[in-house]
Amino acid sequence: MVGEFKPGLEGVPAALSSISYVDGREGILEYRGIRIEELAKYSTFLETAYLLIWGVLPTQEELAAFEHEIRYHRRIKYRIRDMMKCFPESGHPMDALQASAAALGLFYSRRDLQNPEYIRGAVVRLLAKIPTMVAAFQLIRKGNDPVSPRDDLDYSANFLYMLSEKEPDPLAARVFDICLTLHAEHTINASTFSAMVTASTLTDPYAVIASAVGTLGGPLHGGANEEVITMLEEIGSVENVPAYLEKCLQTKSKIMGFGHRVYKVKDPRATILQQLAEQLFEKFGRDEYYDIAIALEKAVEAELGHKGIHPNVDFYSGLVYRKLGIPTDLFTPIFAISRVAGWLAHWKEQLAENRIYRPTQIYTGQRNAPYIEIDKRTAADTEALIAAGAAS
Ligand code: SDX
Repeated sequence: MVGEFKPGLEGVPAALSSISYVDGREGILEYRGIRIEELAKYSTFLETAYLLIWGVLPTQEELAAFEHEIRYHRRIKYRIRDMMKCFPESGHPMDALQASAAALGLFYSRRDLQNPEYIRGAVVRLLAKIPTMVAAFQLIRKGNDPVSPRDDLDYSANFLYMLSEKEPDPLAARVFDICLTLHAEHTINASTFSAMVTASTLTDPYAVIASAVGTLGGPLHGGANEEVITMLEEIGSVENVPAYLEKCLQTKSKIMGFGHRVYKVKDPRATILQQLAEQLFEKFGRDEYYDIAIALEKAVEAELGHKGIHPNVDFYSGLVYRKLGIPTDLFTPIFAISRVAGWLAHWKEQLAENRIYRPTQIYTGQRNAPYIEIDKRTAADTEALIAAGAAS
């Protein structure tokens, strides 16, 4: 039986899940029932990852063991680093990450999806190695050797260290860790759905994560955080905001960092990210683009607020990362570092009740079309066939 077609599967439930909950009218996000504001305040990214993947907050001993395993697995094989050295420096770091995540499958090819030890091993390896791969490509493309992870630094401080070869300021490391917590999970968004579809074929977890990374990179999804900065650069000054918005409205182009399939109010993560940006500005100085961002939010609110268009998670994150000295094209790979936690939680949930994803379609082409031999085909025949297909 074929149901009603919903473009973009809007409103179509595709799974039963107990990982996260979004109320898009009230602006509520919970991971395993805990509000995102609480987790941002009291938790760490690794504790949150544990919560998402295993469903409960860890005890002190469980968290210590998890952190220890991740620390132990942070290093990447020299052959993966050598592979990255063959990537073009001009290539986008998301593409480098997708290729490197897939390459992990070559090194850890044993697949034992029924075995909890195997699942834990893959979870640990992916959470541990993805940041190292992002940092390694950053140094390699600058012509430098990647630096090894530092065992005395926690997850976020170590990533910032591997990126810049400098030990980060404690506030910077804490703010970065909160950013990872905020981006870790968000129900069935496009990249998570991609991970679930891949997982449902019972392939290996590295292929699952690689497919999700590829999906996250697009400008309508995680790639929007990079596009927001490009947009603020293009606007250039607060005075130019009205003209920029007018042009977008006239050409019906999307304003990056605004709008959401689920949220019809300001994304709660955007509110926290804005506060984090302000904390950083207080200590390290204000970002010139912040005033443009605020003016744009106000103008969009006035023009499009009635349609439920408000800032999403990607609007203020770039301003935080800029203040941390992170290059713009690493913003989306950083989103991926964090979202690996959510993707893995869904991978594990999918395996527990698996059935391969295989939706249906409503066929709009023609049936019983004649095969016209190549020497008898004309452009008019082709056009007629296309027109018949489009009309049916
Ligand atoms: C993320 O799904 C998730 O949970 C994703 C995410 C996560 O954590 O995983 O939250 C992360 O991907 C955030 C979204 C990042 N993308 C952007 O910032 C790109 C800009 N935003 C849009 O392209 C858009 O809002 C989407 C892609 C986010 C949502 O797309 P929908 O639900 O398909 O909505 P739509 O494009 O069909 O728009 C519906 C209406 C249209 O107006 P009408 O034609 O009905 O009059 O809203 C308008 C749109 O024109 N609209 C916008 C707009 N977003 C929607 N108008 C101007 N600017 C925008 N940004």
